[in-house]
Amino acid sequence: MSWSPNSWRNFPIKQQPTYQDQETLKAVEEELSSYPPLIFAGEARDLKEQLAQAGRGEAFIIQGGDCAESFSAFNADTIKNLFKLLLQMSVVMTYSSGKPVVKIGRVAGQFAKPRSSDFEELDGIKLPSYRGDIINGIAFDETARIPDPKRMLKAYNQSAATMNLLRAFSRGGLADLNEVHRWNLDFIKDHPLGKKYETLSCQIDKAMTFLGAAGITSNNTLQLRQTTVYTSHEALLLNYEEALTRTDSITEEWYNCSAHMLWIGDRTRELTGAHIEYFRGIKNPIGCKVGPSMQPNELINLIEALNPENEEGRLNLIVRMGANNISNLYPPLLRAVKDAGKHVVWTIDPMHGNVEKSSTGFKTRDFDNILSEVKQFMDIHEAEGTIAAGIHLEMTGDNVTECTGSASSPITADTLGDKYHTQCDPRLNANQALELAFMLSS
Ligand code: PEP
Ligand code: CO
Repeated sequence: MSWSPNSWRNFPIKQQPTYQDQETLKAVEEELSSYPPLIFAGEARDLKEQLAQAGRGEAFIIQGGDCAESFSAFNADTIKNLFKLLLQMSVVMTYSSGKPVVKIGRVAGQFAKPRSSDFEELDGIKLPSYRGDIINGIAFDETARIPDPKRMLKAYNQSAATMNLLRAFSRGGLADLNEVHRWNLDFIKDHPLGKKYETLSCQIDKAMTFLGAAGITSNNTLQLRQTTVYTSHEALLLNYEEALTRTDSITEEWYNCSAHMLWIGDRTRELTGAHIEYFRGIKNPIGCKVGPSMQPNELINLIEALNPENEEGRLNLIVRMGANNISNLYPPLLRAVKDAGKHVVWTIDPMHGNVEKSSTGFKTRDFDNILSEVKQFMDIHEAEGTIAAGIHLEMTGDNVTECTGSASSPITADTLGDKYHTQCDPRLNANQALELAFMLSS
């Protein structure tokens, strides 16, 4: 079956805005198509290779960032804090496991959101739902909620600037292993977790001194001085993704150049839909969410559509069942894939199956449920003799109060309101995310 970047337009599609101004939409798509790519194909191939390693148990994946990036919370500190948090978590996990960590941000493009309802009702007024800053505005007013194609240009520009800063941090000295102390985020420094991290940093210092004495320093060894943080987002708004789909001049294959990795959400993964059509044609490493409704035969069909050559590192299945469901629902899927001999990279998203409403009215998630789902995921893989390749989190390096629980960050239903800043789903704050990394590595 032939494929082109716009062949998805011939298939049924879910979770899309209805643009009233088709002329502006067309003009924006054309403009975006002329803009430079944000990544290049060689980087996506490197990530694919690293995901393949993680799938074999030779590396571990940490993918994390906002549920939804926003135009209003766009600033250097937030990006820097996420970067530092990813590095801190990686150091904690690498130090205990001896394995490299593949770092992937939900960042520089994570703007479009699937919604459970097309409308939102408040005090008797009914408006179209907010679908992410790339589509419409979050304010509960009629004008803000009208989908505006020009928002795609703003999302592109913000993604480019974010990517630029991430690349600068990765190459410009902040990622140097001599700087591990500097990654400690200000607000956790004096906290027991910050102290635990300091102790680990001192051990790394000793190792660095030892290496230095043997002549291996960050001046002469790139790996000690630099890192790579890859970018990823849910490729939901296909008008945007199509415009950034380009042919690689080396292989002449199609790559989505808006991020290194893209994933398909749990609500848009039906086999005959537009998203599967779009994803089958791009060569990037891709992800697909696997939620409670997934059936074993359906999953095998999806794998065959998305990874027909059974390539290692191509397909990341992101499991999100919920702490109460995973022990029942996951093993049959895992066994079906194992028995069919399919190469997939299994990771766990312990966020989206564990949403609850707090007694004080906030959409939240409890740390214990998050930790429990990750641990059950690891145990199931252990029992099946397969590889748990990583975690996928909604988290921020900022000091927010959106998820309850955890020893380090005792947030309760009553304190959720203190710094509840998320644009969409509740995120782990830096303390909670770092605690999770420590718990998984002990
Ligand atoms: C998300 O990752 O923000 C999301 C919407 O997840 P899911 O598709 O698994 O519901
Ligand atoms: Co979310």
